[in-house]
Amino acid sequence: MKVLILGVNGFIGSHLANRILSTTNWEIHGMDLATNKVDEHIGNPRFNFFHADMMKSSEWIEYQVDNCDVVLPLVAIATPKTYVTDPLRIFELDFEANIKVVKNCVSHKKRILFPSTSEVYGMCEDEEFDEETSSLVTGPIPMSRWIYSASKQLLDRVIWAYGIHKGLKFTLFRPFNWVGPRLDSLKAAKEGSSRLVTQFTWNLITGTPLNLVDGGHAQRCFCDVDDAIDGLMSIIQNQDGKADGKIFNIGNPNNCYSVREIAEMMIEIWRTHPFRSKRGIPEGRLVEARSSDYYGSGYQDVMRRVPSIKRMQTAFGFNPKIDMVESLKKTMDSLVDDYLSMK
Ligand code: UGA
Repeated sequence: MKVLILGVNGFIGSHLANRILSTTNWEIHGMDLATNKVDEHIGNPRFNFFHADMMKSSEWIEYQVDNCDVVLPLVAIATPKTYVTDPLRIFELDFEANIKVVKNCVSHKKRILFPSTSEVYGMCEDEEFDEETSSLVTGPIPMSRWIYSASKQLLDRVIWAYGIHKGLKFTLFRPFNWVGPRLDSLKAAKEGSSRLVTQFTWNLITGTPLNLVDGGHAQRCFCDVDDAIDGLMSIIQNQDGKADGKIFNIGNPNNCYSVREIAEMMIEIWRTHPFRSKRGIPEGRLVEARSSDYYGSGYQDVMRRVPSIKRMQTAFGFNPKIDMVESLKKTMDSLVDDYLSMK
């Protein structure tokens, strides 16, 4: 099988590339702006890398959609700070660049596996979010935090409609707070625009306080990227066509914690971390921040986000196992390594 991965050097793309190359005989055709997360595969005859910007490479992309069997367009900005500070960039990259790839898949009759997002459920109040029955609840237009959710939601709806009306073969998968090595760059954390675990690790490494936005009461269910890739691989393998025309949440409802609890767990791990003790970095400390100060006035939060994974369990026996502390430890260790290589 030939797999096209746009954004192969990203968090999901690089983990998926590792898994494909180590456990299958598939060929990868990957595109990205850099190779730092996939350097080890350069030179592997099953790893074909094209160094380019997705916004300026429509000919290469269309050629590769035609050449490959399955298409994963993973290029997107997925950091809430950017939804508020640069919403048009989200629209242009996450929506406009990706809709072209969807259309390429329709014209060349290729299977697309599209990364939707847990963010599409927004402020839905269901106990667990179900792919086909839960409502998608976003806020008013001045709250630009929802531009990512709305962009992905429209892509989901368009892909679904192409499936019904033009025979597009597709699966939508929805990551729920996947965490692990290579999550976000520490450069983004330095600017205060990374996601939670990277941001808190940066704060711990630099001895700066961890900001609990609006008290840190919001809850998330975190899924270790290794468990998540198990789920994604079974969707790519698509035994008996079970993934075709379906939407799947991929998350771990057992790893559900508030932001405050995550901060406390990370401070505890950091207390005995050799990097901290060797360098005499102070223990982690918490401060509270208002969301309007931290993110800007266009921010609105999701207070509770729990995936139903029944559909993944029934179709593929999906069973995420890695617990939060283990996941945090390996993510923090890899970010410490990134920090050392930044210097
Ligand atoms: C993220 C992104 O929108 C997407 O990457 C993705 O679709 C989705 O999660 C997902 O992975 O499922 P969110 O969970 O809100 O959304 O992103 P984080 O930046 O990780 O924030 C989580 C929570 O931590 C929020 O309540 C936020 O306010 C809080 N936070 C974040 C803090 O209290 N302090 C910080 O320094 C950073």
